[in-house]
Amino acid sequence: MNAPTITEPLTVAAIGDLHVTEDSQGRYRALFEEMSDAADVIVLCGDLTNFGKASEAEVLAEDARAASVPVLAVLGNHDYECGCPDRVETILAEAGVRMLGEQATVVEGVGFAGVKGFVGGFGRGELGAFGEQAIKAFVEESSEEARKLENALRSLRTERTLAVLHYSPVPETVLGEPLEIYPFLGSSRLAHAVDRFDNVKAVVHGHAHRGSYEGRTPRGIPVYNCAQFVVEPAFGRKYALLEI
Ligand SMILES: [Fe+2]
Ligand SMILES: [Fe+2]
Repeated sequence: MNAPTITEPLTVAAIGDLHVTEDSQGRYRALFEEMSDAADVIVLCGDLTNFGKASEAEVLAEDARAASVPVLAVLGNHDYECGCPDRVETILAEAGVRMLGEQATVVEGVGFAGVKGFVGGFGRGELGAFGEQAIKAFVEESSEEARKLENALRSLRTERTLAVLHYSPVPETVLGEPLEIYPFLGSSRLAHAVDRFDNVKAVVHGHAHRGSYEGRTPRGIPVYNCAQFVVEPAFGRKYALLEI
């Protein structure tokens, strides 16, 4: 994708873990309006619905229609619970939400590439593809998400890109969660994919509700945990504001 050379920073409002339920009609409507006033683009970092039900996606889609700037999103693990993530994506896409995945997108010269990601652990604790077939399949899922991210990032020719995830690429932003569940909060494979690209200026993710806001990839790219439960205590609002 070619993009015009634009040097002005783009303001991104990022929020993860909305966990919309059937009875939360209108809960995020005012927030979409507020984020539209505060930012040039809104990014949703997964767990958009609580159980991945089409009815929950309809509730969120209705609120997302209140946005007056582009809304981009990745799904989270909760959006898979009912087994119809494609339906959730379609409903949101019909409301104008750009679902990231194999397809990256460009907004005002800034690239956005995103995937859900997967579990697997970090650094030396990363699970390897060894032994039982079930372990190999599990690790393959993690590697496949990292490959999809890498392919989406490679498709962008922008000077500045934001990587959007649900699972964390680094352990720093899950700090605060019980140590025992770190391997289920993300995967270093995602950080390795991001670190191959000089134009990635930041990574946003969600999932670790009790994690920490800020971290860095091994190459030093800033990583922000934008789960609303992490952002709100830090900033007094449910979304993070980033200049890319
Ligand atoms: Fe969540
Ligand atoms: Fe999650």
